[in-house]
Amino acid sequence: MKVNNIDYRTVWYQDDKVYLINQNLLPFEFKIFEAKTCNDTCFAIKTMIVRGAGAIGAAAGFAMAQAAQALKKQDENYIDYITSAKNEIERTRPTAQNLFMAVNKVFEAALISPQDAIRTAFAIADKDAEDSRNIGILGDTLIQKNWKIATHCNAGWLAFVDHGTALSPIYEAHKNNKNIFVWADETRPRGQGARLTAWELNAQNIPHKIIPDNATAHLMSLKMIDMMIVGADRIARNGDTANKIGTLEKAICAYNYNIPFYVAAPTSTIDINCDNGQKIPIELRSEDEVLFQTGVNEQGKMEKILVCSPDSHAYNPAFDVTPAKLITGIITEKGIISANEQDIVKIMRNN
Ligand code: MRU
Repeated sequence: MKVNNIDYRTVWYQDDKVYLINQNLLPFEFKIFEAKTCNDTCFAIKTMIVRGAGAIGAAAGFAMAQAAQALKKQDENYIDYITSAKNEIERTRPTAQNLFMAVNKVFEAALISPQDAIRTAFAIADKDAEDSRNIGILGDTLIQKNWKIATHCNAGWLAFVDHGTALSPIYEAHKNNKNIFVWADETRPRGQGARLTAWELNAQNIPHKIIPDNATAHLMSLKMIDMMIVGADRIARNGDTANKIGTLEKAICAYNYNIPFYVAAPTSTIDINCDNGQKIPIELRSEDEVLFQTGVNEQGKMEKILVCSPDSHAYNPAFDVTPAKLITGIITEKGIISANEQDIVKIMRNN
């Protein structure tokens, strides 16, 4: 996607360094974070400088490649070193399937050679961008003219290497002059919808408004939402889907009001070895994300302020699981399927 007329990916690799758009500073500042080592890239994933399933998958793959490059294969400690790097990367964030898929593929390649690791990490990043583009083309076929579409969190290009998933069909529909409008849930506590999705939509001149997280049911009851598209962090074999906290509530509301509720995700987000949503690890994040908010003050300087009762604590699960029965369909790069085991196993056969 273009930022200030320059084409960017959210994550890229050059001269053994990983470069990432620093998403913690958006939408106020556009800055690139340079990760010189595997350790630095892990820090970027943990602190959400890079976030979103596909983007952290690509970053994790490159982190693994950095580790493989750091030692020569002939070094007697090579296997121990890359194994402990793999463990470190896997400890950064637990929910997104793409991270584990990428680390495992690049680790296997690193066992052959550091060059193979790099080649594999690049291929994963390229495929992520290509899959997202195809999701856009397929997802657009579901969108009718003048529709108002709701989305939760950020599953736009920032959450992937390029194009995004939930927003990719929206970009395509806009390009095809369908006169669409987007409701972006603010997505407390970190505000990925208010900060990132709104920033992306703004950059593409797509008409939109940010809504409080608790406004969706009201808008649905007034027929102000024609369709909802969300991303996914992990999809179990039976179609249960983990996504940003709050997704489950939206799905229940959509089901109640008979509004199509689609999950847009590449097949790399499907965890075929996970039977159902109850087995998906749900990340618990720091209570500070709930207790404090970060934004810019009137002088344009970034500030972190307390927004809760000073003596209270918070509980902060980052994801929830939407049962398959609430999902109208899954838009993958290979086709639109039902959220059930039969369709999922079939589409994963050639992966
Ligand atoms: O915690 P985050 O921001 O990494 O959450 C992941 C997400 O971006 C969302 O859950 C998103 O809707 C799906 S991942 C593209």
